[in-house]
Amino acid sequence: MDQLFTVNAASFKGPFTSGQQQQATEALEAGRVVFLPQLTFPFTEEEKRFLTPNWSDGGAKNISYDSSTGKIQGMDGEGADKRDLSAMLQRYSDATRDLMNGLFPRYEKLIQRRRTSYRPVEIKGRVSKITKDDTRLHPDQFPARPVGGKRIIRVFCNVNPHGKGRDWRVGEPFEDFARRFIDKIPQPFPGSLPLLHLLRVTRSRRTLFDHYMLHLHDMAKMDDQYQKSCPQFPFSFPAQGTWLCFTDEVLHAVDAGQYLLEQTYLLPVQAMNSPDKSTLRVLERLTGKTLV
Ligand code: SIN
Ligand code: FE
Repeated sequence: MDQLFTVNAASFKGPFTSGQQQQATEALEAGRVVFLPQLTFPFTEEEKRFLTPNWSDGGAKNISYDSSTGKIQGMDGEGADKRDLSAMLQRYSDATRDLMNGLFPRYEKLIQRRRTSYRPVEIKGRVSKITKDDTRLHPDQFPARPVGGKRIIRVFCNVNPHGKGRDWRVGEPFEDFARRFIDKIPQPFPGSLPLLHLLRVTRSRRTLFDHYMLHLHDMAKMDDQYQKSCPQFPFSFPAQGTWLCFTDEVLHAVDAGQYLLEQTYLLPVQAMNSPDKSTLRVLERLTGKTLV
């Protein structure tokens, strides 16, 4: 499938050749998914106790971990369990950092590590509000944490112990998608973006870029016709495989799967080889506005 670019590597530390680095960077910036089918993240015998959905506290969809503070959220557990799951998520986070620096050395100076998540709950049959429903195609956006034009990179590893794939669909190119909806997006109410920050609805000022992206995210998910008829390509990421992409750009949906690790990074567009390909520059061209 043309949406995938496969890299054969058995270790998060590589080593990667300069040819692999160049090709992987080009593929990622072209909106493809970089897929590493042989890259696994083994659990220790002790960590295998975390392979049940019962550790999720039921409120949030995921257990999330912040490597900068060591804080874990969404976990139903205490003491040694909390400590050991945190340590495992820290190890995954560090492994993905090795991978990013090894495969995308040009991003190393500016890339920012964000949260790590563990998703032990089966996707199929899970009920969510429509705008939170990841079984519908969407580009990623964080309503409370504006990115201000930075790219979102996510590194996923399917750690399912029963050989079950993670069933995704990948949608059409971002620009084709954005063109369908961009003229229907309302202008923000004057003064509303700073007010959201003042009221602490958002962690920082929501930029016009974030405003447009949030609308694109919600409009895509709420449009039944679009969900049914837009171009989309199914792919099941195998158990014990790793993949990453710009999730602010790659339209994606997940239909089934259980036990996933995920690490989020933000990347300023100036770190890219081709910043013109960024969601920020695409939306600026389509709207004729400066968005951050
Ligand atoms: C998503 O980011 O939309 C969900 C991806 C996944 O959990 O497989
Ligand atoms: Fe998503």
